[in-house]
Amino acid sequence: MLLKGRKIIITGGPTREWFDPVRYISNASSGKMGIALADESNNISKNTCFIHGPISEDLLKNKPYRCIGVETTNDMLESVLYEIEDNSVLIMCAAPADYSPVKKSDEKIKKQNENIFIEMTRTPDILKNVSAAREFRKLNNLFVAGFAAETSNTEEYALSKLNEKKLDMICLNDVSKEGAGFGCDTNILTLFTRTGSKVELPILTKDKAASEILKQIEKELLKRNY
Ligand code: PMT
Repeated sequence: MLLKGRKIIITGGPTREWFDPVRYISNASSGKMGIALADESNNISKNTCFIHGPISEDLLKNKPYRCIGVETTNDMLESVLYEIEDNSVLIMCAAPADYSPVKKSDEKIKKQNENIFIEMTRTPDILKNVSAAREFRKLNNLFVAGFAAETSNTEEYALSKLNEKKLDMICLNDVSKEGAGFGCDTNILTLFTRTGSKVELPILTKDKAASEILKQIEKELLKRNY
């Protein structure tokens, strides 16, 4: 079974980890790359769903596929684990916050003259949980792609994420390059697959980059031959 007819789950945008009622830890992901993937995926399979952190309402307007809004990395984890099933494709394009404050104050923390220190704890790694669930729930024929946002030793770090997170594919964006990564309308990606392919893409609009990613996934599914 190729992409058509499969359930395709895309994540996008940042997550937020609050430390008081008005302040949070997050990052600069706009959700544009995730939306581009969900739009392109919906052209191929009507069973597309987009799990997103807090992003602009304008980006979500009139989308013909299911959009599921979440806030924290834990929420995103729960939603992803709920949606994955046999034969589904997961593309983790979101930039979930990696750390969360240990304590969330019920009241706004008052400004002080001294520095303050906020103790942070690691959030769960969604992709590692997916790989554990894949074995535990005996999910058949799942295809999992991740992204790597890197600024140095880019290929080495991307390949170590491919292996550590037991992915089928990783899309490396060197976010130190102009025109790649967070917030902009273009991306510069290199796609690495578990089967050993390496595809270097030029600078492309996020729509075109999304289309190339899905084409590469289709090629990988063809190699599976079932
Ligand atoms: O949203 P845009 O402004 O369009 O920007 C797009 C993007 C730069 C955010 C996107 O292209 C991208 O690179 N997304 C991944 C960002 C990221 O979190 O990279 P990472 O190298 O820290 O994480 C590696 C992989 O693990 C990613 O697939 C990430 O979704 C996943 N992850 C990360 C943290 C976490 N707690 N659980 C995860 O599963």
